[in-house]
This record gives sequence, structure tokens and C-alpha cells, in this order.
Amino acid sequence: MAAVRVYGDAETLSRAAAELFAERARATVAECGRFVVLLAGGSTPRRAYELLAQSPLISRVPWPDCHFFWGDERCLLEGHELRNETMVRHALLDHLSVLPSQIHPIRYHQEPEQAASNYATELRRFFAGQQPRFDLILLGLGDDGHTASLLPGSAALHEQVQWTAVARRPEESFSRVTLTMPLLNQGANTVFLVSGRGKASVLQSIVKGSNDVPTLPAQLIRPQQGELLWLVDREAASQLEEGYGAG
Ligand code: 6PG
Repeated sequence: MAAVRVYGDAETLSRAAAELFAERARATVAECGRFVVLLAGGSTPRRAYELLAQSPLISRVPWPDCHFFWGDERCLLEGHELRNETMVRHALLDHLSVLPSQIHPIRYHQEPEQAASNYATELRRFFAGQQPRFDLILLGLGDDGHTASLLPGSAALHEQVQWTAVARRPEESFSRVTLTMPLLNQGANTVFLVSGRGKASVLQSIVKGSNDVPTLPAQLIRPQQGELLWLVDREAASQLEEGYGAG
């Protein structure tokens, strides 16, 4: 059973997430010299990224030893406002003195399949043939239970060999590239950030059904040799039974 921490509002949730990021980065770099993080997209994590880019946290993280990957990306050209890379650069990376070689965006030019294949190649190169391992994985949760861009009912959900896949949400005009479960379950620390009343029902389904046969993509996140933590705000937790720890 994963741990669930409930915070009073989105701001205290974001602050907790940013402080966890900073603590994990410091400890990991002290232990093994680098910190490899898989970043979440969407809107929920933005404030946590912003808090990391300002005092006091900006001075607490060994940024030169960090490597930034994304769990998924929209197949839009570099700089497009809807790209998760753009959001993270504006909220965090543009405020840091880090080298381009530390930043590993999911690049898209013309073909989603090529973008997915290229990212898998970049991951394999980075992990140099070793078992891929992220020191921290940040994930969001869609109100349909998706995470990254692994959508309910998609074939990519059950991919066990390829590290990346192409996904498409019917309501969107663009495709997506997503990491698949073989990689998303390789986090030493995996943290979902969930905020807002709109997520209350799906969060309750996931937390309540945590020991059942997984039916929602986010339920397939079961870290191998890693910790799973849900950081949620009170609105998102409004359908959880009493007793979940206040953050
Ligand atoms: C994306 C994200 C996606 C997101 C959830 C929650 O590219 O949109 O990777 O998985 O985390 O949809 O999105 P919000 O944080 O905006 O609610």
C-alpha cells in the first residue's frame, strides 16, 4: 500500500513536493554523485518546479549533478507552449545554471514513432546498457486514471519490452510520446502529485482498489525496489476515508 499524504491546498502540496525533490537530490548526489529525475508534465507540478527555482530551495539542490528526463511529451515542435518541456523550462530550468547535456527532452520533428525511438535510444545511451533507474519519478494523474501518457485501454499500457510508445488522446490534434511501465516502475522514489476536486473520484478508486486487479493505468505504477508516495491536496482527497495522514 502506497503512502498518501494530504495537504491543505495546492500551494502546501507544491511546497512539499519541491522540498522532497530537493531532499532526494541532495541525498542522492551525496551518495552516488548524480541525481536522475523523471519529470511530470501537465499543470499540477508547475508550482513545485517554480518553488525549486527560487530561494530557499534553489540553493539547496546540487543542480550541476542533476539530469532531467520527461515521462511523456506532446508531439509538438520545440518551444510550443503546450509541450511539457516548455512548461518545465519556463518554471525551472531557465532559472538554473545547468548544461544542455543535463537536459534530456523528448524531441519531436516529424514522426511520433521516430521521436519515441530516438528517446529510447537516448535513454539506453544515458544508462550505458545498465538497468535504467530513476532516483525520483514525478507523475501526475488524469481524471480518467491515466498517468504520463498511458491512457486507459491503450496497448502501450501492457508494453513490457519497449521503453517508449506513441499515444494519442482522441480530443487532441497531436500525438504523444510516453515512457512505458518497464521504465515508469524503475523509480527509487515515485511520487504522484494530485490536486483538485476533479481528481477526488479517481483517486478514491485507486487508493481504495490498491490491492485489486489494476484497472487504471496509474494502478500499474508499482515500483520495483522503490517507494511509492501520493502527495495530494485536501480537495483531491475529499472522497478518501478519514485517517489518511495530513501532510
Ligand atoms: C500531460 C501529463 C499528464 C498529466 C495528467 C494530469 O502531458 O498532460 O503527463 O499525465 O500529468 O494529465 O494533468 P494535470 O496536472 O494538468 O491535471
